[in-house]
Amino acid sequence: MPGPLIAPSILSADFGRLADEVAAVTEAGADWIHLDVMDGHFVPNLTFGPKIVAAVRGASPLPFDAHLMVSRPDDWVQAFRDAGADSVTLHAEAVQHLHRSIQGVKQAGARAGVSLNPHTPLSVLEYVLDDLDLVLLMSVNPGFGGQSFIPRTLDKIAALRKMIDARGLDVDIQVDGGVNTRTVFEVARAGADVFVAGSAVFGARPYAAAISAIRDLAREGLEARAAASKAASVGA
Ligand code: DX5
Ligand code: ZN
Repeated sequence: MPGPLIAPSILSADFGRLADEVAAVTEAGADWIHLDVMDGHFVPNLTFGPKIVAAVRGASPLPFDAHLMVSRPDDWVQAFRDAGADSVTLHAEAVQHLHRSIQGVKQAGARAGVSLNPHTPLSVLEYVLDDLDLVLLMSVNPGFGGQSFIPRTLDKIAALRKMIDARGLDVDIQVDGGVNTRTVFEVARAGADVFVAGSAVFGARPYAAAISAIRDLAREGLEARAAASKAASVGA
């Protein structure tokens, strides 16, 4: 069983010292660096563009995971790839032709992700899931760090886990929003494998303790899930 991956979101970092913050969470044991890109249109907040990503790329050897919360994300995929993003995730709600958008990410040479807002049903993934490297389920309405986890997301994670396993796919389930030591066990037990945490990492000190506390609870959740599915298959 692969271990849980922890992806600190720099949305909650000190933007005045962004490169140092990226280096600090890298040193503290992060697995990916999560980059929340917001345009003030798709979401009611503005963050940063590819130039900032390129500016901090040298601060870490970890995968850079770009989460584009922007309208017309297709126009920006190549720019974020060129800036050093290893994966590019766009929102299904932001594009007209989701299949085309996913191909665009792959053609740019990045791992392809699709994100769904809390209200968006999984059915939108039915005919594209096989083309994806990751699905990002929003567990808050996107736009801000520090919001509360929406509990109904747990059912959605479990349903997506079933879809992925039923097809025998290797698609990461990433969960983003309100992930912290109070929620991560259930998020992992429901079937997630990549855990985005903004305020729970950057709002805590030291970062290494915050990351390992989240990782330990995520691992326990994954183990609980594995034990439950083993018991179910023995009982079957
Ligand atoms: C929300 C962003 C998240 C956010 C998570 O729109 O996509 O990545 O930073 O922040 P926390 O972990 O504080 O909920
Ligand atoms: Zn995000």
